[in-house]
Amino acid sequence: MPTSSPPSPTNPMRIAPSILSADFARLGEEVRALQAAGADLLHFDVMDSHFVPNLTVGPMVCAAVRPHVTMPIDVHLMVSPVERLIVDFAKAGANIITFHPEATDHVDRNLALIREQGCQAGLVLNPATPLHVLDHVMDRLDMILLMSVNPGFGGQSFIPSALPKLRLVRARIDAHVAAGGAPIALEIDGGVKVDNIAAIAQAGADTFVAGSAVFGAPDADGGYKTIVQTLRGHAQKTLRSE
Ligand code: DX5
Ligand code: ZN
Repeated sequence: MPTSSPPSPTNPMRIAPSILSADFARLGEEVRALQAAGADLLHFDVMDSHFVPNLTVGPMVCAAVRPHVTMPIDVHLMVSPVERLIVDFAKAGANIITFHPEATDHVDRNLALIREQGCQAGLVLNPATPLHVLDHVMDRLDMILLMSVNPGFGGQSFIPSALPKLRLVRARIDAHVAAGGAPIALEIDGGVKVDNIAAIAQAGADTFVAGSAVFGAPDADGGYKTIVQTLRGHAQKTLRSE
């Protein structure tokens, strides 16, 4: 099974297309095209019509997609409760599993459960979720996912307050690493486009979910090479300088 790795100096900016905007009737073809385009992660949005209003896909679809790609599958759980689906998605081939702290009373236990299942673990912060939810779990985290839209739908506009929030989370991660902690990826999700990804990178993100930006800009052959490379190029050209 492929394993994910934190951003490296040779590839410091990872592009994670979200299947939410894919053609679900051709999902295998779509994810193979993303892999051929050089996407770094496959972002897999799971919605339950309870924690968020929309309803998407579950572990069976993850297991169906798994043999079509070698890139890591980054499962974003927008569900409550989370326990059962953590185990089911790990069995279905997920490599990274993130959940929202509001979705469970047992954040620490479920972060541990994700790693026990052999996956990387992450917490997702909604636009209004305060950063103190990170306070006692930094050692349990491989990734922090900041929402720059309210979860539930693709194609929404980037919420500007996510930029100063990103800077604060980047400072927390840097302090954690400076104190001897392991690196933590910082992923941003919602409204990421060619024209704002450089500013998002500058604010401290290293992993970029993009749904409508990718699937709305296919190459003439139906592939996604140009848009994936363009997004990565814009993210990489701005060096962080806080
Ligand atoms: C929203 C999802 C996102 C969404 C991003 O709840 O978590 O991953 O698909 O889509 P865009 O890039 O279109 O905002
Ligand atoms: Zn997502």
